[in-house]
Amino acid sequence: MRIIGIETSCDETGVAVFEEGRGIIVERLFSQAPVHAAYGGVVPELASRDHVRKLVPLVREALADASVDVDALDGVAYTAGPGLAGALVVGACFARAVAWGAQIPALGIHHMEGHLLAPMLLEDSPEMPFLALLVSGGHTLLVDVEGLGRYKILGESLDDAAGEAFDKVAKMLGLGYPGGPAIEKLALSGDSKRFHFPRPMTDRPGLDMSFSGLKTYVMNIIRDMPNDTNAKADVARAFSDAICDTFVIKCSRALQNTGRKRLVVAGGVSANTDLRARLRTLEQRYDVTVYFPPIRYATDNGAMIAYAGYRRLRVGEHDISEFKVRPRWPITELRAPVKVG
Ligand code: KG4
Ligand code: ZN
Repeated sequence: MRIIGIETSCDETGVAVFEEGRGIIVERLFSQAPVHAAYGGVVPELASRDHVRKLVPLVREALADASVDVDALDGVAYTAGPGLAGALVVGACFARAVAWGAQIPALGIHHMEGHLLAPMLLEDSPEMPFLALLVSGGHTLLVDVEGLGRYKILGESLDDAAGEAFDKVAKMLGLGYPGGPAIEKLALSGDSKRFHFPRPMTDRPGLDMSFSGLKTYVMNIIRDMPNDTNAKADVARAFSDAICDTFVIKCSRALQNTGRKRLVVAGGVSANTDLRARLRTLEQRYDVTVYFPPIRYATDNGAMIAYAGYRRLRVGEHDISEFKVRPRWPITELRAPVKVG
């Protein structure tokens, strides 16, 4: 079975083909970051237009590179939500048209399920059930994963997502977009003893999170701080430490509450080296295994959509003729795929 995956929910155009028995056989990714950098964040209309420009050439290139003809595909998976409406529509229209032309099934995939399953593209892939920390630009979720499509939210950010907080603090520091990688780099030369930022919502029980107050706290520090050469790096360091500590505390609690033995961490922020190192310390402490996607599959990509599509299309799940994207789509609305035949 060979599935093409198409990702256009935000500012990356991603295409990949997953083949049963071989894994990802080809992938292409085009990042629109330079297009949006001048505006300090993603401009939805520019994102849609760029997906229109890039999607067809990327698919052509990928299929030619893998020597796979459209007729050799068994299904088309595309991101149907959550994400930017216009950007989602570009991928959905194209995917549905390809599927219709080739007379193969299409399936709209939940973007966060794509992230959740990305670590399964590793050779040593995590088995379900597991606990998952999903940290992207739009979502911060602690999910108990009993099986494919069987998700229970244990905690989530009540305001800004962690990635969003990285992007906003980066903007305050005059760093480029996207902010996460820029903060990670600057934090390397920062002194972790100079500032101490709050670890939001860790002083009370529960697994919900909040990053908007932390962002405001950082804003006030930046406004009042002396303009010495290392000040920005020290802020980046303290901010990164606060986020990492918060996740360590919340994941520890969730592991203890659920007794799960595996923790999967995915989504754009899971590319962060400090966060990876800090969360790995939970392995010894709680006798668990922590899994991360390969770095290139942490941020948005087509491979995770192809794989999620494979997991559902292979048991016969597919779209009906009604055409719909879901810019807002709670992950808890997903269901386990029903085996057909
Ligand atoms: O999953 P993703 O690519 O897109 C969404 O689904 O939102 O996540 C993007 C987010 C951005 O906020 C970006 O700043 C953050 O992930 N990010 C990082 C790193 N790389 C990307 N945050 C911290 N450290 C990184 N290395
Ligand atoms: Zn994403």
